[in-house]
Amino acid sequence: MNPRDARDPVISPRPMQHERAPEPGRDRADPCTMIILGALGDLSRRKLLPAIYQLMHEHLVDERFTVLGVARDGAQTDDTFRAAMAKALKESDEVEQFDDALWQDLCPRLHFVSADLTKAEDYAAIGKELEHLEAKCPPEQRNRLFYLAVPPSVFEPIVCNLSKSGLAPRTKTQDERPWTRIVVEKPFGRSFETAQRLNNMLLGMFAEHQTYRIDHYLGKETVQNVLVLRFANSIFEPIWNRQWIQHVQITAAETVGMEGRGKYYEEAGVVRDMFQNHLLQLLTLVAMEPPAQMSANSVRDEKVKVLRSIRWLTEETIPHNAVRAQYTAGTVGGKSVAGYRQEPDVSPESIRPTFAALRLAVDNWRWNGVPFYLRSGKRLAKRVSEIAVQFRSPPHLMFGHETRAAMRPNVLVMRVQPNEGVSLSFQVKVPGAAVALTSNIEIAPVNMEFDYTQAFGEVTAPAYETLLLDVMIGEATLFTRSDEVEAAWRVIDPLIQYWESHPPKRMPTYAAGSWGPREGDELIEEDGVEWREPEV
Ligand code: BG6
Repeated sequence: MNPRDARDPVISPRPMQHERAPEPGRDRADPCTMIILGALGDLSRRKLLPAIYQLMHEHLVDERFTVLGVARDGAQTDDTFRAAMAKALKESDEVEQFDDALWQDLCPRLHFVSADLTKAEDYAAIGKELEHLEAKCPPEQRNRLFYLAVPPSVFEPIVCNLSKSGLAPRTKTQDERPWTRIVVEKPFGRSFETAQRLNNMLLGMFAEHQTYRIDHYLGKETVQNVLVLRFANSIFEPIWNRQWIQHVQITAAETVGMEGRGKYYEEAGVVRDMFQNHLLQLLTLVAMEPPAQMSANSVRDEKVKVLRSIRWLTEETIPHNAVRAQYTAGTVGGKSVAGYRQEPDVSPESIRPTFAALRLAVDNWRWNGVPFYLRSGKRLAKRVSEIAVQFRSPPHLMFGHETRAAMRPNVLVMRVQPNEGVSLSFQVKVPGAAVALTSNIEIAPVNMEFDYTQAFGEVTAPAYETLLLDVMIGEATLFTRSDEVEAAWRVIDPLIQYWESHPPKRMPTYAAGSWGPREGDELIEEDGVEWREPEV
């Protein structure tokens, strides 16, 4: 069957990328002005503009869609801003081919106003520009999407200024028009306390339905597919529990090092950067109960329950369940690279982990006794993110000793990136009549494969494109709710606090280009299992 025929419209809320123009009135974004606060930064150039360009390419934005870039740069004009954005698009990996006709459509929609966003008095200029841009729109269509592409240190003053200036009014219900929505980038706080403070501040000025907290992993097609795989098929759910699953491994391995982000990373480290958000999000999707419906609150309710069921890490349990390490010099992709402590803006005595491995327990009926192993690191052997669900061995094996020794457990692997897809490994008999007569049948593990590119002929949409469209449509399922982000910090906070207050006598290390430190392997091997070496 063609996989396109098998799509379920209920779970596929927007047209897939290979379907060009959306049906009239369906899933095309509402008209709006997107106000990018911090429009000259990296995020804006590398992610937001390419996402806007792609959405236009697919006819998914409204004809009246406009962008207002805001940053502190008095020398910048509409023209120079447009030129900078054209350059960014031409250099972007996410834009397959720069199409001049499309640019001619996008270019006049881009505007710029200079403002120091931490100064309340500068918001009048933004307001004036907005009034001008919205003048031709009927009042109920003057929707505003504020995107905070700014460092976390200035979130608070900017949110306060936005609210006080009246540019971003609070709306009572999600259906109120015109709408105002605020998109907040990660990191959302740097601890439970700071995240809670940020939530209180945001929710003091805006309603939850106006607030979109980004975790770009949720925008990845394959991450969304976890829900479809689990809940649109009947074969997985009956075995998705402690009776059949032995353990779950979640890996997010990167080959990149600091890439000029040493200063940020010295503040964050791998646990804040990857575990609190991306890895825990993957865990919630694997472990959650079936939501009542595919709606933002139903899905997020179930995710919050998982986060609240994760057994708290304590001073007593952390040393046996968590490993940290830093990369030293090595070779990645054939190139020699420096160690973490030699990276620009990194202290030569830094104790910030660039790798962590963690064993978590989910204390509920479904998962009692099933370990969840999480690992992530910079400068590892390959760039790969995947979730591997390993099933238990058969309860009784009638085969001979040699066959039993050769058996491998069934593993369901959801490949988030690259080579997006799903594979299921199982045992088969190696053909050969003679050996079949003995109890030592020769067996071999094989894979049943689903590959996105092969099935759909096109690699999946970049995460920012998906997420931006969702904000314009008002679809919040793929964004983290306030209680969810706080629940995730509650899981991670004790680990960060313990590690920061107990600097290691000797920081474990791993050579750049390896799969991490020996200690990371030992963490899982003591349970009689091994990390998968992902095939990419
Ligand atoms: C970001 C982290 O959230 O995710 C980065 O801050 C990391 O350090 C990135 O490199 C990984 O995302 P992706 O989509 O490249 O896997």
